[in-house]
Amino acid sequence: MLGGAELAVLLLLAGLAAGTGPPVSEDTLEKVAGSLEMYVDILPQMPKLHGYSVQYGRPTPVHLAIGMYQKKWGVPLWVTWANHLPERHILPWDPTVPVAIPRHGGVPTVVHLHGGVHPPQSDGNAFAWFTSGFRERGPKWTTPTYAYPNVQSPGVLWYHDHALGLTRANLLAGLLGAYLIRNPAVEAPLGLPCGDEFDRVLLLADRSFYADGSLYMNSTGDNPDVHPQWQPEYFGDAITVNGKAWPFLCVARRRYRFRVINTGNARYFNLSLTNGLPFHVVGSDTSYLPRPVAATHVLIGVSETFDFVIDFSDQSVAAEVELLNTAPYPYPDGETPGHLSGKVMKFVVEPAKTRDDSRVPARLLEYVKVAEEEAVRKRYIVLYEYDDDATGNPTHLYINGKRLEDPATETPRVGTTEVWEVINLTPDNHPLHLHLATFQAVRVRALVGLDQFTDCMVRLNDAARCNVSGHAVGEAVAVPEHERTWKNVVKMAPGYVTTIVVKFLMVDTGKAYPFDATAEPGYVYHCHILDHEDNAMIRPLKLIQ
Ligand code: C2O
Ligand code: CU
Repeated sequence: MLGGAELAVLLLLAGLAAGTGPPVSEDTLEKVAGSLEMYVDILPQMPKLHGYSVQYGRPTPVHLAIGMYQKKWGVPLWVTWANHLPERHILPWDPTVPVAIPRHGGVPTVVHLHGGVHPPQSDGNAFAWFTSGFRERGPKWTTPTYAYPNVQSPGVLWYHDHALGLTRANLLAGLLGAYLIRNPAVEAPLGLPCGDEFDRVLLLADRSFYADGSLYMNSTGDNPDVHPQWQPEYFGDAITVNGKAWPFLCVARRRYRFRVINTGNARYFNLSLTNGLPFHVVGSDTSYLPRPVAATHVLIGVSETFDFVIDFSDQSVAAEVELLNTAPYPYPDGETPGHLSGKVMKFVVEPAKTRDDSRVPARLLEYVKVAEEEAVRKRYIVLYEYDDDATGNPTHLYINGKRLEDPATETPRVGTTEVWEVINLTPDNHPLHLHLATFQAVRVRALVGLDQFTDCMVRLNDAARCNVSGHAVGEAVAVPEHERTWKNVVKMAPGYVTTIVVKFLMVDTGKAYPFDATAEPGYVYHCHILDHEDNAMIRPLKLIQ
């Protein structure tokens, strides 16, 4: 049914540069933000690739650093990720969180294809890290060459570092890129804007810089006695898109498709356009919506992706349209973005040179319906934050009160559906990400008597004994229409129980995975705020037969 599809891999990698001197002052940033020009002075260019190189394919590997990759659907992709990182990390990391520390130096990394449906050995397990030349390898390393079958529904994926305790620093340093799965057989008939010019990836992130354009990351922990470097959230001063701070993009008066990925550490983006233009949302993560949804605001949690069309064709559209961000940081109760982090990029609208034959169709793609009653099992997933008595700042975060190293407790059967009640006892929203599986929120309810419930949970760590159903009776919040599809990241509101239906099979076909998903080293699920993931809001996900 899906024959004739093509696969495109878009590799965008920023490199690494060493920082010196004091960070760029707010004043300097303020000036540049005011002009909304490309931030050429302090971020000269997307640096050359220094992080990874990859080898594609078998049996005759091609050595490529950056580029596009196209293949017929059904032909798998093999990638040998090579570590070209320097001997010492250019950014602060912290030896007191659970972290990969090689005995013989070098910076460990391992690559995870986020949203990918692939075997566990190719999943980029946090313990499967390796240093340059595979000189040293983590305890769960199995193979240098990863297999990506690319048999799942078309959509937006991205790949990034997943090394134990280093993910926040490694992504900040640029170890990430976009990966698109295209299937023209089912996508071309939709008539959405297409081609490299009109279908574009926007990688959003916030970054701070030294005056020479290199990256700045504060190196003092909020609880330095416990963790000398680890901070609960990194927020950069400037917003970058594809590695440039506050860039502009010249667009013609026509429709464009943008695949927006939040690659930041901890920052949520609540996007809107000046001129009141709507986003016509067509998909999220690796799925389409059944129908396009017009939204004036799109809230993007860390690692979440949204796929939308902007129509610049109307003559009432101003010559310049700004993409703004209004999400408080941390989300939802933090500071309101000001002049610096409130701007994302600018579109400079020019007359169209060619006719626009694209459209936003009334119907998109449909997958298997979400059906809670199909669930064979219910689990409680509890998000905890542990604070330092003296400072009140978080010292670490856990899921279900357990460490990553503790034996897997989430062991779903391949091919089944489960219901997970995700209970957020912290003050922050957390973007929960599951590897391999897709899921969607069906209910979001406030917890009443939250303090009492939290006390009980901290004591017993048992949702049933703490009468979760007696507490989950507060205000119900609707799941936004543009998030009602099979996702791999869902935002978990603080003080709420979010009910998700999780499928451990391919939702576009209803079929089982075409590989052994039960193999070692298994998968993981975690909060995708990278600073949380590193310390250590992450747990194993071990599928069984
Ligand atoms: Cu995008 Cu486990 O990660
Ligand atoms: Cu989190």
